[in-house]
Amino acid sequence: MAYYIGADLGTSALKLLLVDASGVVVNSVSRSYPVQYPRPAWSEQHPADWWAAFMDGVQALLSEVDRTAVRAIGFGGQMHGLVVLDESDAVIRPAILWNDGRTAEETAYLNDTVGREVLVSHTANVAFAGFTAPKLLWMQKHEPENFKAIRKIMLPKDYMTYRLTGVHATEYSDAAGMLLLDVEHRRWSEEMAALCGITAAQLPRLFESYEAVGTLLPAVAAELGLSPEVTVVAGAGDNAAAAVGTGAVNAGDCNLSLGTSGTLFIVSDTFAAGGGDALHAFCHANGAYHLMGCMLSAASCNKWLCEDILHTTDYAAEQADISPEKLGNNHVFFLPYLMGERSPINDTDARGMFIGMRADTTRADMVQAVLEGVAFALRDSLERARAVGIAVQESTLCGGGARSPLWQTILANVLGVTLRMPTVEEGPAYGASMLAMVGDGVYPTVQDCAAKLVTFRTCVKPDAALTARYERAYQKFRHLYPAIKQVFTVLKED
Ligand code: XUL
Repeated sequence: MAYYIGADLGTSALKLLLVDASGVVVNSVSRSYPVQYPRPAWSEQHPADWWAAFMDGVQALLSEVDRTAVRAIGFGGQMHGLVVLDESDAVIRPAILWNDGRTAEETAYLNDTVGREVLVSHTANVAFAGFTAPKLLWMQKHEPENFKAIRKIMLPKDYMTYRLTGVHATEYSDAAGMLLLDVEHRRWSEEMAALCGITAAQLPRLFESYEAVGTLLPAVAAELGLSPEVTVVAGAGDNAAAAVGTGAVNAGDCNLSLGTSGTLFIVSDTFAAGGGDALHAFCHANGAYHLMGCMLSAASCNKWLCEDILHTTDYAAEQADISPEKLGNNHVFFLPYLMGERSPINDTDARGMFIGMRADTTRADMVQAVLEGVAFALRDSLERARAVGIAVQESTLCGGGARSPLWQTILANVLGVTLRMPTVEEGPAYGASMLAMVGDGVYPTVQDCAAKLVTFRTCVKPDAALTARYERAYQKFRHLYPAIKQVFTVLKED
């Protein structure tokens, strides 16, 4: 039996799956690494930590199998991060991550001075602080020596592919999030490169997600005990990989993810820049396109409350006191903007907030408010999709937060959408292994692979009475951010 390695280079950890050609997960391993927050709303990681996690994790992943059966590797990974390499391909500075908010000025320059219409005409998107292009402008201004030393600009998972193969490659789904790609025509935008003070030669070569980039470098193959003929496919941004892994590969399909970020991912056969300012128009890993809304803190809000504030990792115990009749009746609300926010409000100054507490407010009310606040904020993105005529009645759901049955119920009823939970929970890593299979010729297309491999374990349907209660609650939630927006500017850290 042939084996495939699917890797998900996440923000909190690297997840590795070993999958056989019929889609059965043979083994899984996770290795965590830290995020550095050198200043408020900055977020960085060391690419060396990612690589160490991979080399160590693969040894554990393959400890009990015949390594000669491994045929291909695919990576999904956190999007938008800026990894810069010098002329000897050494990493110049820590990677600046997707949820880093340091580029408010550069983002405003791109949107307001260069202009949104110009950006959309070159890339199909407006600028958001976490995108890669504003980070280049920031580095040019604040770290000119580092900027001058750049020979290659890489995305996080593409750095891993480079370390595995020696090839500077990327693919369309992740490249779309750099604000440097002409998304419609699947080519680099010379105009955007010039606006950011770089040349196309500093950008990696573009592939489709399921295409082979190369084979393992002999030294890496030897260290991992693998054949140097193992293929590495281009892989995908984690959301596109998750969509593949949950079977969201046909026009109109939707996948929601409750990971560190929260995303709404809607598949389209044809290019459409129709998301307005709020939704991103990106390439999909199946050769087509998608629209996406991304909130910066989703399951991470619950993790923050439980682990950092309440000092517990027993999330289920925290949710145990939230009885069904409390759903849709909470007097406490939470704004989930712990890292500022991307979709749909595009505000780096926004911060988290509890509001509505009373003398009788309980710990459980506040836990519930966090779960609901994340669901309401995802609904904000869904409303933007509905406003451009996209009807979402059903969606798949993945990510760590999707394991909570309570959160599944809250989300299904806040959104008014039926949610299906895939049998394999690790959406991005599973999708990455599927891309590796397509690259190895096991399945002719990503769609065919998904039709054969993706199955579902449960489904949660919205309930009419609960949806109505949550509709009233959502209408209250909608007032909060506009009313408090100016205060976030006053609170802004110096
Ligand atoms: C998507 C985004 C996040 C990261 C998280 O635009 O920024 O979902 O990819 O890993």
